Amino acid sequence: MFEVKNISMIYDMDTDEKMYALKGFDLTLPDKGLIGIIGPSGSGKSTLMYCLSTLKKPTEGTVCYNGTELTTITDSEREKIRRKEFGFVFQKHYLVPYMNALDNVLVAAADQSEETKKRAKEFLAGLGLGERELSKRPAKLSGGQCQRAAIARAMINNPKVVFADEPTASLDHENAFNVMRILKSYSADRLVLVVTHDRSILNEADRIIEIWDGEISRRETE
Ligand SMILES: Nc1ncnc2c1ncn2[C@@H]1O[C@H](COP(=O)(O)OP(=O)(O)O)[C@@H](O)[C@H]1O
Ligand SMILES: [Mg+2]
Repeated sequence: MFEVKNISMIYDMDTDEKMYALKGFDLTLPDKGLIGIIGPSGSGKSTLMYCLSTLKKPTEGTVCYNGTELTTITDSEREKIRRKEFGFVFQKHYLVPYMNALDNVLVAAADQSEETKKRAKEFLAGLGLGERELSKRPAKLSGGQCQRAAIARAMINNPKVVFADEPTASLDHENAFNVMRILKSYSADRLVLVVTHDRSILNEADRIIEIWDGEISRRETE
């Protein structure tokens, strides 16, 4: 599904000192499964994820997604793919503070039909947010509940790929585990990429890619 060739990312190109956040490597990712990207802070994990998901453009190299070369198409084509096929979860939930949990999910939906509303409710229920929580604003929900609402929002359009950047970093152990369980089950027939510096949440990953100083230092399967 993803075919990355010789990817490099250099920040601060204007200054004399070049900062290589990614140092030129190849990577192939399948069309389903839970893939962990692990490494210390500053190793380039987010940069790699943003290059894969079109949020950033690599300085060099190519990122091919289902036969489409993401680095050469137009901005609007990139946006279309991003909207239609990708879902995002970040460390912070970024829910809209004045909307309740249900509306926070619906705001990302492709349409606002009754059927979509029903689906959003079912989705949230499956994530453990019942009727009582749906009408609550983020401030009235726990951190774990907010993050689960953010996951429902990321998945409401059935994205082919979910990109999760440190999705459990602000959660306690139990909620971190719940979030990973949800992502794992979604990865049965979709691709889920989870960036983390915490190996303990990747017990169920199908594959772990270790990043160190902008390079892949280790590729593990199972
Ligand atoms: N917008 C930016 N401008 C300049 N340097 C950046 C920028 N974003 C990240 N970096 C640098 O690139 C390196 C990799 O960062 P990042 O991909 O965020 O790592 P990680 O997600 O593994 O913590 C770090 O040294 C970081 O300081
Ligand atoms: Mg990061």
